[in-house]
Amino acid sequence: MATQNSASVTITLFLLFLFPFPFVSTTQQNQIYIVDIIRDDNGDRIIHDIEHIHRSYLLSVKETEDEARASLVYSYKHTLNGFSAVLSPEEAKKLSEMEGVVSVRKSESGRYSLLTTRSWKFVGLEEPLKEEAINNHKKGTDLLAKAKYGQNIIVGMIDSGVWPESNSFRDEGMGPIPQRWKGICQNGTAFPSFLCNRKIIGARYYLQGYETVYGPLDEKQDYRSARDKDGHGTHTASIVAGRTVPAASAIGGFANGTASGGAPLARLAIYKACWPIKGKSKDLGNTCTDVDMLKAIDDAIEDGVDVLSVSIGYPKPIPYRDDVIARAALEATRKNVAVVCSAGNNGPSGRTLSNPAPWVITVAASTLDRTFLAPIVLHNGTIIEGRSITPMQMNSSFHKLVFAGDVENSSVAKNDSGYCLDGSLDAKKVKGKIVVCMRGKGMRLAKGLEVRRAGGVGLILGNNEAFGEDVPCDVHFVTATGVSYQNAMKLLQYLRSSNDPKALLLPGTTVLNTKPAPLMASFSSRGPNIVDPFVLKPDITAPGVDILAAWTEEDGPTRSDKDKRVVKYNLFSGTSMSCPHITAAATLLKAIHPTWTSAAIRSALITTASTTDNMGEPMKDETGKPATPFAYGSGHFQPLKASDPGLIYDSSYTDYILHTCSLGETQELKLNYHCPNPLPDPNNLNYPTIQIHRLNGTKKTVSRTVTNVGNPRSVYKFSAQSPKEYTILASPNVLEFEYVGQKKNFTITVMAKRGQLPARIESDEDQYYFGWYAWTHKHHVVRSTVAVSFL
Ligand SMILES: *[C@@H]1O[C@H](CO)[C@@H](O)[C@H](O)[C@H]1NC(C)=O
Ligand SMILES: *[C@@H]1O[C@H](CO)[C@@H](O)[C@H](O)[C@H]1NC(C)=O
Ligand SMILES: *[C@@H]1O[C@H](CO)[C@@H](O)[C@H](O)[C@H]1NC(C)=O
Ligand SMILES: *[C@@H]1O[C@H](CO)[C@@H](O)[C@H](O)[C@H]1NC(C)=O
Ligand SMILES: *[C@@H]1O[C@H](CO)[C@@H](O)[C@H](O)[C@H]1NC(C)=O
Ligand SMILES: *[C@@H]1O[C@H](CO)[C@@H](O)[C@H](O)[C@H]1NC(C)=O
Ligand SMILES: *[C@@H]1O[C@H](CO)[C@@H](O)[C@H](O)[C@H]1NC(C)=O
Ligand SMILES: *[C@@H]1O[C@H](CO)[C@@H](O)[C@H](O)[C@H]1NC(C)=O
Repeated sequence: MATQNSASVTITLFLLFLFPFPFVSTTQQNQIYIVDIIRDDNGDRIIHDIEHIHRSYLLSVKETEDEARASLVYSYKHTLNGFSAVLSPEEAKKLSEMEGVVSVRKSESGRYSLLTTRSWKFVGLEEPLKEEAINNHKKGTDLLAKAKYGQNIIVGMIDSGVWPESNSFRDEGMGPIPQRWKGICQNGTAFPSFLCNRKIIGARYYLQGYETVYGPLDEKQDYRSARDKDGHGTHTASIVAGRTVPAASAIGGFANGTASGGAPLARLAIYKACWPIKGKSKDLGNTCTDVDMLKAIDDAIEDGVDVLSVSIGYPKPIPYRDDVIARAALEATRKNVAVVCSAGNNGPSGRTLSNPAPWVITVAASTLDRTFLAPIVLHNGTIIEGRSITPMQMNSSFHKLVFAGDVENSSVAKNDSGYCLDGSLDAKKVKGKIVVCMRGKGMRLAKGLEVRRAGGVGLILGNNEAFGEDVPCDVHFVTATGVSYQNAMKLLQYLRSSNDPKALLLPGTTVLNTKPAPLMASFSSRGPNIVDPFVLKPDITAPGVDILAAWTEEDGPTRSDKDKRVVKYNLFSGTSMSCPHITAAATLLKAIHPTWTSAAIRSALITTASTTDNMGEPMKDETGKPATPFAYGSGHFQPLKASDPGLIYDSSYTDYILHTCSLGETQELKLNYHCPNPLPDPNNLNYPTIQIHRLNGTKKTVSRTVTNVGNPRSVYKFSAQSPKEYTILASPNVLEFEYVGQKKNFTITVMAKRGQLPARIESDEDQYYFGWYAWTHKHHVVRSTVAVSFL
């Protein structure tokens, strides 16, 4: 998803109002439909046969063989049993009445959008990484060595492509490509097949859905190939599996250090399914059509990827039946492919999660222990803390300081807003001055451009109250520093009280080991999960703020049309950046435990996550108050601990299908599965956390099963931390294991405490109260978060 907050301009573009512009078709009436047909049991049919079958369906509604062929957009094999095609409403209706056709529905193209140096050290994976150790067959004791740096694992990236020449994707010293790999390196513009190597082992691109909706790709906007012009795909791929690159840094030398992906020897398979919006500024970020993504994931499953990284989301929560990522990911779990997704960048408001399905790992974003301090010196001697990664162009003298709201052009801006929107500043009052602009409306980079347009020499970007302490860092086009809400208020107070307010902006410096960290990023989407109130989401948080990783050399660091600067590494933020951190962790876990299911990997990550910051206090959010599981899920990931979780909560494809049965979605998902009667309790999905929606003043018992993956003989004891509103009990409360792989059932009962219920339940939103329980044996603490609402 568009990396919302940090790289300012890239953000929030949810293409809610794009109307399909049919290209293949001749009339406005035609559009893409997704057609599901009955699954026969011949699972091993080759794609050629499948296409033939699909064309024969089309032939019965189209006039000629050629028309049928031209109308077929994609045939799918794994993600669904069916195809996508350009149809008129009449043809769609006719098709839906045919025998063997399960459903025909309109594609909703154009609504999905794309939503590291220090991060690994921060979570206890030491750098620089000794990749040579593997080649020398040295026995390492640390996680990376145990996982052989991920070298046998194949990671599929559904994104905007890759910049293959980046140092992060060198393949020197890497062993042969795993033999089970079935993918290809698709030839295309500026991406001949020989560009793939032992690091980037596959590359494909998907344009048929995009071009059907928007017309032919504008080749000035992007390459007709897997080459990344946008930067997003290169960044995410290098966070997962970039090689160790010493002395990498962002523009201006910020965040200097050794850049490395989390699984530096893992193999990358690139599936480019996201493209620039036609005729729009690239500032808006790329869009991904549902039919292209379905095909990309379909191919990834067929090619043999082990883990899929999807930093893409729908702009708001939608039911699984309407969500192609959820649907494709469900089929991926059938082949035991672990799917990791971004939680979305629509925070800090609640009920904003993307990708909340229990069969994916949903990742929130938080900070690293690194900031870019850039002090602001006031003329009265006071120093205010600011943050900046903008190379300074100002000389070291004081300049007059003004508030944008006081220097607006009254014929343009009448509200004294101080937002520095385009054309709002009065050049006569701004020339040569430093301008304080407020966040809350308009794009961050554009504010700097407006200050520059009006002749200002510097920008101080002040947070509004909602953004609080979460100060973003951007590479502005004018000398610039960002400040927290509190500091913005201090500056205004100074401006109001001084006759001759002046300030000096000092250049930013990279500061490590900052405290407290991690902090939740304000942009990170929050629960509760309103699509599936029986599943607590997000699952986990990982670094997603100012992450240094490889970049396209085709696009400036800000991704603005106006930015002609070329960089090899760039800082970028979003749940798009936290997602690939978890993908890398899942890759290492898969390497260490090749037999684990994707549910086991998710469980290990969730039950070992940490909820405290580096000061030992509860992790906080942008307000400076303790964050809740609706922000961080079960906490910050700890890959070392996740590699040895003790117990896991496992689930299978069938368990997920049963879950969709109890949600009443199986029919809608057209899964061709006969739901049992009575339906299972949706709270009994064997998830490593518990969310009880509307306990209603009484009690609720849910069942769980754990599998021993730790010591053969072990005795796990139950403990819980209940809030004052309810009690968490387990039966039995001791679990004795004799062997590895042994399963034990238990129940958890959540009982409301009489007299402790909230007096008044907040109007329309369910208020949740959080607790946890844990099973403990020696160093193994298997912790599960519990969230309960009462109404
Ligand atoms: C590869 O793609 C490029 C660009 O579309 C094209 O010019 C070239 O002929 C293709 N090469 C092969 C071998 O297909
Ligand atoms: C970054 O650069 C500064 C200044 O050159 C240097 O003092 C510092 O050690 C570098 N940091 C890292 C992590 O390399
Ligand atoms: C610094 O900037 C001020 C204001 O623009 C200017 O008057 C002064 O000459 C500059 N000093 C230097 C050393 O460039
Ligand atoms: C001024 O405020 C009004 C009402 O809040 C709003 O409709 C309008 O768009 C604002 N104008 C500007 C230039 O921000
Ligand atoms: C104010 O805006 C109007 C309309 O864009 C423009 O004509 C005028 O020159 C501006 N005045 C100043 C002082 O910038
Ligand atoms: C400078 O101004 C700020 C803001 O008004 C104020 O908080 C601070 O105390 C002042 N410092 C001095 C040394 O007067
Ligand atoms: C809550 O419990 C009360 C009393 O037992 C019952 O009347 C009501 O229907 C319940 N509400 C829900 C939503 O289950
Ligand atoms: C655990 O519960 C499941 C389903 O209720 C049951 O099939 C299984 O036999 C039970 N396992 C044990 C070890 O009791």
